[in-house]
Amino acid sequence: MEKIIEEARIVSRQLVRGQIFRLRLHAPNISGAARPGQFVMLRVCEGIDPLLRRPFSFSRVDAAEGDFEILYRVVGRGTLLLSRLLPGASLSLVGPLGNGFELPLTSSSPLAFLAGGIGLAPLLELIARVISERGQKGAGELRLFYGARTAEELLPEDLLCLPGLRIDFATDDGTFGYKGRITHMFEEAVAEGFGPSEIYSCGPLAMQYNVAKWALANKTMAQLSLESLIAWGLGACLGCALPAATPEDPGAERFVHVCEDGPIFSAGSIKWNKILSQQTVVPTFPFN
Ligand SMILES: Cc1cc2nc3c(=O)[nH]c(=O)nc-3n(C[C@H](O)[C@H](O)[C@H](O)COP(=O)(O)OP(=O)(O)OC[C@H]3O[C@@H](n4cnc5c(N)ncnc54)[C@H](O)[C@@H]3O)c2cc1C
Ligand code: FES
Repeated sequence: MEKIIEEARIVSRQLVRGQIFRLRLHAPNISGAARPGQFVMLRVCEGIDPLLRRPFSFSRVDAAEGDFEILYRVVGRGTLLLSRLLPGASLSLVGPLGNGFELPLTSSSPLAFLAGGIGLAPLLELIARVISERGQKGAGELRLFYGARTAEELLPEDLLCLPGLRIDFATDDGTFGYKGRITHMFEEAVAEGFGPSEIYSCGPLAMQYNVAKWALANKTMAQLSLESLIAWGLGACLGCALPAATPEDPGAERFVHVCEDGPIFSAGSIKWNKILSQQTVVPTFPFN
């Protein structure tokens, strides 16, 4: 798909909680082409510091208004500069990039969405799209398992208000909802009878690994939004490579690129052990 370069105007900027911001941008061309799970490279300032654009997922898209939103957490210089920009300012964008989620195959099967921390961002637009395509009636069971380290890092419920969606919360320290890992909470729901036909997940690497492991063991389709360091986002610099699984030749050294082949990957397409043993390949995730 053709990449669009567009100058966007900041419509609104809101500090949602802690270091998490919600930014609404007016960019009709990119909004009109964006699909859930895709991302945009955003130039956080003029000049050369920082030089590179930064990748952010579409957390909501309003194509009719020509707007989209991102949810981001301040982790470094780029996101700090971004958090200081006010409505009316303009930003240079390239997008939409990446493959995006494939929407569910059947129209009424139960679906599970697993979100760790700011990993919720791409899932919000995906869930909204699924609900709108299925319609309110006969939408099937849609469950979001959403967690963070502590209650103060969970997004406020008004941001999560989507009709027909059941949300189960988890925190590592037990300050809100289930105490423990999202994947454990999900496994308990399955033990109690929840049977998703597909899983969509975004979160820290360790969480994604556990989701992939469960999905492969239980023969359930899973689409995982993965991260890597994205430099240019155009498939040329090889900076975002992840080791790929090659089932027919397990010893083969093959790579996929998050910016072009991803960021959405099936559970079985990644060589998880290699990623986990080479922490230089994937940085510490901000999705937590
Ligand atoms: C496809 C994709 C979609 C993304 N979507 C979102 C989103 O919707 N919301 C969101 O908040 N973030 C998202 N990110 C992560 C976001 O791009 C980074 O947090 C951001 O680029 C950091 O820029 P910075 O200049 O503030 O940090 P830097 O100054 O570049 O780095 C500051 C610190 O943060 C660490 N850091 C930087 N980037 C990452 C990273 N990708 N993962 C882990 N640690 C990192 C660095 O190692 C360093 O310690 C996404 C990343 C990818 C690849
Ligand atoms: S960011 Fe350069 S190849 Fe993906």
